[in-house]
Amino acid sequence: MNMMNFLKTRKSTREFKDKPLTESDYKKIEDIIADINFKAQQHLIKMKLYEYGKNIYKNLKGVAGYSGVMIESPHYIALENETSKRESVIYSGYFMEKVITELNNLGIGTCWISLSNVDSELKEQVFGEDSSKVNYLLAIGYPKPKSPFAQEPFSERIGVEEMVYINNLDKNASISELENRGLGDLFFYVRFAPSTLNKQPWRFILHDDYVELLLVDDGDINYIDAGIIMYYFEELAKIQGINNKWELVLEKTEHKNEKYILIGRYKI
Ligand SMILES: Cc1cc2nc3c(=O)[nH]c(=O)nc-3n(C[C@H](O)[C@H](O)[C@H](O)COP(=O)(O)O)c2cc1C
Repeated sequence: MNMMNFLKTRKSTREFKDKPLTESDYKKIEDIIADINFKAQQHLIKMKLYEYGKNIYKNLKGVAGYSGVMIESPHYIALENETSKRESVIYSGYFMEKVITELNNLGIGTCWISLSNVDSELKEQVFGEDSSKVNYLLAIGYPKPKSPFAQEPFSERIGVEEMVYINNLDKNASISELENRGLGDLFFYVRFAPSTLNKQPWRFILHDDYVELLLVDDGDINYIDAGIIMYYFEELAKIQGINNKWELVLEKTEHKNEKYILIGRYKI
């Protein structure tokens, strides 16, 4: 699916069919994960596919997920990273969204699950030895069909003007300005990226020949959200014929009593 359509229509899947993936889809996921693990190992990231989800769900119910609301799915992907290294956390978001995009192309639904309330003893019990670095799960499976009459829950997104600034954080961008620069679609669609608790902590500052990405530092910053938007930004930029990569900066900055982390720069 085209990346713009995917972003506009993408939603976390929280209800899955009670049936395993077909052997052929399962095999494709194994290949996707092998490929990602090869690329992500330099950032100390590792993903592992768990075929039998029932036990994982039973053991993590009431503990994992927002307020202990564990998501039930036939299979899970566990994500290991190095929380003491910001780069590892950032690229975890980046590579997991790459997996999510590829699974979506196979008709497979996904939902991130936070494991911050799961202690290492329980992790070891569920995922085996040396699993203290498993920090997230991705629930995966075929989505349950939705009733055409049911009101779908919708996660609100902030407006482009609230998220994008010109030259510095004093001046909000206008849609027409972004369109004149050929970046209207990119900033419109990138907003649909997912984030922890749907906080959408991203802010962009557009300069003449580069874009800066900042995260609002509310005291509970999650660097994984930076990697998520970096991935979608790069993919949307490719549609505009720009093939660059984000370069990390990781500096603190402040503006009008608000704290931010300057995550990186992207040449346009
Ligand atoms: C790093 C991360 C962790 C998340 N953890 C959970 C979780 O534990 N439980 C859950 O139901 N959703 C979780 N989510 C899903 C987000 O709440 C969801 O993506 C966001 O609210 C936007 O909604 P949407 O994905 O339907 O567009 C997580 C998302 C991210 C990016």
